[in-house]
Amino acid sequence: MQGRKLLHGGDYNPEQWLDRPDILAQDIELMKKARVNTVTLGVFSWSVLEPEEGVFNLDWLADIIHNLYANGIRTILATPSAARPAWLAHKYPEVRRVRADRVRELYNRRQNYCYTSPLYRDKVRRIDQKLAQRFGSDPAVILWHISNEMGGDCHCELCQAEFRRWLQTRYGSLQALNKAWNARFWSHDYTDWEQIESPAPQGENAVQALALDWKRFVSDRHIDFLKFERDTVKEIAPNAKFTVNMMYRFDGIDYFKMEKEIDVASWDNYPTWHKPSETVEETALDTAMMHDLFYSMKDKPFLLMESSPSFTNWQPVSKQKKPGIAELAALQTVAHGADSVLYFQWRASRGAEEKLHGAVIGHDGREDARSFTETAQVGQELETLAEITAVKREKQAAIVHDWQNKWALEGSCGPRNAGMGYWDELKRHYNALAREGIAVEFVDQNADLTGYGLVVVPMLYLLTDAFAKKLCAFAQSGGTVIVTYWSGVVDESDLCRLGDTPYGLTELLGLRRTEIDGMYDGETRSCMPVAGCTLPAAQASILCEVAALDEENPAEPLSLYDEDYFAGHPAVAVHRYGKGRAYYLASRFDEAFYRAFYHDAAKEIGLSQAWPEALPEGVLAVRRGSFVFVQNCTEQPATVGNTVLERYRTAVWKGKDRIF
Ligand code: GAL
Repeated sequence: MQGRKLLHGGDYNPEQWLDRPDILAQDIELMKKARVNTVTLGVFSWSVLEPEEGVFNLDWLADIIHNLYANGIRTILATPSAARPAWLAHKYPEVRRVRADRVRELYNRRQNYCYTSPLYRDKVRRIDQKLAQRFGSDPAVILWHISNEMGGDCHCELCQAEFRRWLQTRYGSLQALNKAWNARFWSHDYTDWEQIESPAPQGENAVQALALDWKRFVSDRHIDFLKFERDTVKEIAPNAKFTVNMMYRFDGIDYFKMEKEIDVASWDNYPTWHKPSETVEETALDTAMMHDLFYSMKDKPFLLMESSPSFTNWQPVSKQKKPGIAELAALQTVAHGADSVLYFQWRASRGAEEKLHGAVIGHDGREDARSFTETAQVGQELETLAEITAVKREKQAAIVHDWQNKWALEGSCGPRNAGMGYWDELKRHYNALAREGIAVEFVDQNADLTGYGLVVVPMLYLLTDAFAKKLCAFAQSGGTVIVTYWSGVVDESDLCRLGDTPYGLTELLGLRRTEIDGMYDGETRSCMPVAGCTLPAAQASILCEVAALDEENPAEPLSLYDEDYFAGHPAVAVHRYGKGRAYYLASRFDEAFYRAFYHDAAKEIGLSQAWPEALPEGVLAVRRGSFVFVQNCTEQPATVGNTVLERYRTAVWKGKDRIF
């Protein structure tokens, strides 16, 4: 699809400038200067492609695509389903979503169509067919971009009926459903499928398995809609390749399930650089974690579909990227396994919600503006790095991130309704590993664990039987598993496991949970390493799990709680299991703890760091194949080997050769 070329460019909205041929001509000239080789077209073009029902006009789009192509710029073509024209929403109310409170929306905004409505699907099918007929075998079109940032839910009658059908398929009978949902609680036994409704503020919210199934159902609906659009195009253009742009920490769709329906994973990245609560290094790590999640989707290079060259206009404060950050962010993206740096957007809109959003070309149209000059510099560097295209990253550590677990964990009442901080937990493990220069992937419970040296299992509240067995087998054959508190609590139906927990892992860990105590924000309990252990003293927070060691085959405590009634119980323990071992972390600790813990663990497991020597604080190293990127994410120059890196600058090596 891509050849040996990193894609550079982004969302282009020429439909907003059709009355300004001078501007469209300037776009091409400036794109060439900025080394743009790819644009995304058509994301929000439906009202121009089909100005009236059944009246199609694709000529303008064909002209633009071909003019770009003649100038060396290829197109990622979007289906326009994310934003429908006013005529459609007005004439056919069923395409407008019904909110959880059962009020149907008026025509507004975007990404709010009913994904079940046969009428909407019919209208989308027609426009997609037209696009596929016209551009399906056009060499200028390298990839199809389905809709835009799918998400949200619809509670209309069509969706309610579909939900009941989905439940019938999942459970077969009401009896089985009542059992799985423990519906006897508060006398909620269902005796007719029609009694089941999606969660609502004025409706059901106590049957937590219902809410979990609703999330699964909504996720499946989006995936079904994606498949419907993909197959519509594929029928006409059998060789077409597809992506869908995914989002930062997005909760509404099980992306590991969605990923199976597309050819290449892509995501939209809008970090808030320079916010007072975070250092540049912390923002970089937060972003890196997402890059690694999207790399993990297909265990191969992904695309960065959108990013701002300068600033956004929807964050609380619109901060400019300081000079150098655009380059740092772009090279970080490539280091973590992306084959593109694409922006939202090429040229700023004149009006409506995004008129003050950053763009490569602003309203002044100037090429000496910083957003342009920095983009052009990135363009040049990406050309220098072309050889990295399609290069994979190595497998070292995996962190379990499972959407179904997150839904169930956060949907439960207790043990901490003040917030479980699931992402915060993941981030602590991730940051410590990333600071060690270890490659991290994210996996769900269906993953194959072969090839990893380390699997981290944070707060895996909903643990399936199969995955518990997989973890044991992984350790048995020599792997290292790290399991935290609040794991192995419920099954797939959110039914509490009976007997000892963490379910399925007590033998692996050499201990069992006896209690878990909630902590208020800011409340901590100190933990002390046992004699001879090099781990630092640590502060436990959020949830303090209390465990009893197995009587016959106990884990070896490495650190103990040092206060409260659970003083003397293990805070950290290790247990040999087969050829491998399992660590148990009973609570959420401070950052310094994880750094020391993972520094030692990585050495013990033999995971090699991207940079062989200790790096200055705030300097991050990432390896992709034989390329090594070292990035100075601090505000000061930093010395790495015999190189001085100015603030925010990156040095790249290929093997022993410094590229820049
Ligand atoms: C994305 C969206 C784009 C644009 C951008 C602004 O979420 O896909 O269309 O709105 O945000 O930052």
